[in-house]
Amino acid sequence: MKLIAIIFLILIFTVVGFIGYKTNYFESFLTQNKKEIKKKIYINTQFFMTDADRALYAELRENNPADMILVSGEEYLANAGGDFAFANFINVSTKNLPHYIAGFPRYIKKFNMVVSLDQAIQAFMYIKHKEKIKLESPKMFALLTYVKSIANGEKININIKKDVELYEAYTLGKKTFHQKRGGRGLSCLSCHSKDILGSVLRTQPLPDLSAKGVAPAASWPAYRMTKSSTRTLQRRFQGCMKNSLMTVIPLGSAEMVALEVYLTKKAIGAEIYIPGIKR
Ligand code: HEC
Repeated sequence: MKLIAIIFLILIFTVVGFIGYKTNYFESFLTQNKKEIKKKIYINTQFFMTDADRALYAELRENNPADMILVSGEEYLANAGGDFAFANFINVSTKNLPHYIAGFPRYIKKFNMVVSLDQAIQAFMYIKHKEKIKLESPKMFALLTYVKSIANGEKININIKKDVELYEAYTLGKKTFHQKRGGRGLSCLSCHSKDILGSVLRTQPLPDLSAKGVAPAASWPAYRMTKSSTRTLQRRFQGCMKNSLMTVIPLGSAEMVALEVYLTKKAIGAEIYIPGIKR
């Protein structure tokens, strides 16, 4: 009787094991669990922010101080002929302007180079209005915040296969993102890859910029609480370069625009919402 029971049990285990092995059930169970664990770590790290910080963050989400910057940018542009004049300058209709803005950085033929949106604004202000505005100036940050907000609700639609020049910029951006530089030999990827998702650096969870849904390209310019000011995406790159002891690349340089192309490509389909709000 005992022997039959034992043989019966062995038989059952073998059949269950075989089915599990064939259907990969155990493996998918394990990977699913891994994902859950990663998610948990990431969520838990949010608590490194103090309660007071989080309350302030919620409050600022409602009343984003960058809205004031946006309004001043709108005024600057209105004085230069408004949306219509800018759209006209870059050869699109006002109706098409939001969709077109959601495709920056772009290769623009009349400049014969790949430009980010602030550079297109800079060219417009200089060529049409003889006004020189530096990319790092508060006036440019305001103009960029407003002009990009024209595309609010649009999905990012950069098409890197459209022009060879844009594709080359993408390749340069990818290289720059992966390149180890500076005293610590770090690359952007050292801190922003899937492998270290959830790790914490100086109380901040490291964001995975290559993850779908993170999409910094759709949420900058943004108000930065820790800097009490409105910053742009390229300015944010510079912050990371400085913090990780890399030589800081100038705004608007080929590498900077290329980095923006690289991260914008990862954000395709993300809805633009400007101004963003960041820690
Ligand atoms: C030493 C680690 C480190 C390196 C190297 C680094 N970063 Fe960061 N980065 C961070 C941290 C930490 C944050 C989040 C800070 C916060 O939440 O305030 C961040 C945030 C960002 C953000 C903002 C994400 C958002 O929320 O919108 C961008 C964009 C970014 N980094 C780009 C880069 C680029 C491009 C490089 C390479 C030039 C780079 N980073 C290199 C640590 C790093």
